[in-house]
Amino acid sequence: MITPPPYIQSIKPYVPGKPIEELQRELGIKEAIKLASNENPLGPSPKALTAIKEHMGNINRYPEGGAYYLRKALSEKIGIKEECFIFGNGSNELLDIAVRTFMTPEDEAVMAWPSFIVYPLAVQIIGAKSIKVPLTSDLRHDLSEMAKAITDKTKIIFIANPNNPTGTINYADEFEAFMKDVPEDVLVIVDEAYYEYVRDPRYPDTLEYLKDGRNILILRTFSKAYGLAGLRIGYGMTKPEIVTEMNKVREPFNTNSLAQVAALTALEDEEHLRKCIEINEEGKKYLYSEFEKLGLQYVPTETNFIFVKLSGITSQELYGRLLKQGVIIRPIGEDSVRITIGLPEENRKLIEALKRQEVLWTSSF
Ligand SMILES: Cc1ncc(COP(=O)(O)O)c(C=O)c1O
Repeated sequence: MITPPPYIQSIKPYVPGKPIEELQRELGIKEAIKLASNENPLGPSPKALTAIKEHMGNINRYPEGGAYYLRKALSEKIGIKEECFIFGNGSNELLDIAVRTFMTPEDEAVMAWPSFIVYPLAVQIIGAKSIKVPLTSDLRHDLSEMAKAITDKTKIIFIANPNNPTGTINYADEFEAFMKDVPEDVLVIVDEAYYEYVRDPRYPDTLEYLKDGRNILILRTFSKAYGLAGLRIGYGMTKPEIVTEMNKVREPFNTNSLAQVAALTALEDEEHLRKCIEINEEGKKYLYSEFEKLGLQYVPTETNFIFVKLSGITSQELYGRLLKQGVIIRPIGEDSVRITIGLPEENRKLIEALKRQEVLWTSSF
């Protein structure tokens, strides 16, 4: 029997949100809803769907590894040179590529905790070490403590801004102070997967650091606000030298041709994006007000999901109870859940299901 090295054996695999179809089969119902994976409930731009259909006949060909048209369009839209872009099979792949490009098993990556579960996984897969810095009491990255955690072994710092699972952001002034403490030989990965949803004007403009020549890799995705999670496409913006190194590790045809076409079309459909964000804002307001009526403690969010701190019931218990009513949410640790903001009728179904729980919510945080 062949066995992997100990650092692979000890990996706890990523547990994805339960698929709707699976729950529907289990319960024998047709109308389960999934509020567990921060997907866009409205779906992609209809124009992107048309573009996919039009390009389906070309899938006998390999895709363009450099995502030529998408690169050009993003470069124009964002105002960053084309050579600063790198594309991934989801932004997830790009953080994996960054770890494999810059880290050895002797190195360390600094990250906040709890944060996106994939960061420590990517680090563990290459046998390196994650240094996890607890969030502040208001559940944001503690950037000054993270700066203190940097050692000679630190190669990468992960910052999820907004953070998953808490939906919180770090502000421009905090980020500025933090960047002053980051040495020249460390790569800061700022994961902006929920960038389009952010409304708080204190959100940092990280592109400025890239323009200043800092070692920063900004990750964004078409999986969330653009509704293309199933096609897997995201992008990174960084210095051309860093793109060159990461391209050595990147598989040549890592983003598929339909994803490239869909992303390009979705990018142009600003009206649909606006609608997605508006629906999210409305859902957010509705859920805040219903959570308040229920006495549920939530954390104000800058994303398409809400972190809810429980009291009087464990996360697994609530998860199980809601599953039975056809509502899939995400348990986080012992005492919290993460709930994706859905369509108005999905949000109402969630609230109805919560109301049916004979649970004493109390406010203890
Ligand atoms: C913070 C964060 N980063 C990255 C991702 C991965 O997104 P993608 O679908 O682009 O791989 C997610 C997905 O949930 C996320 O929450």
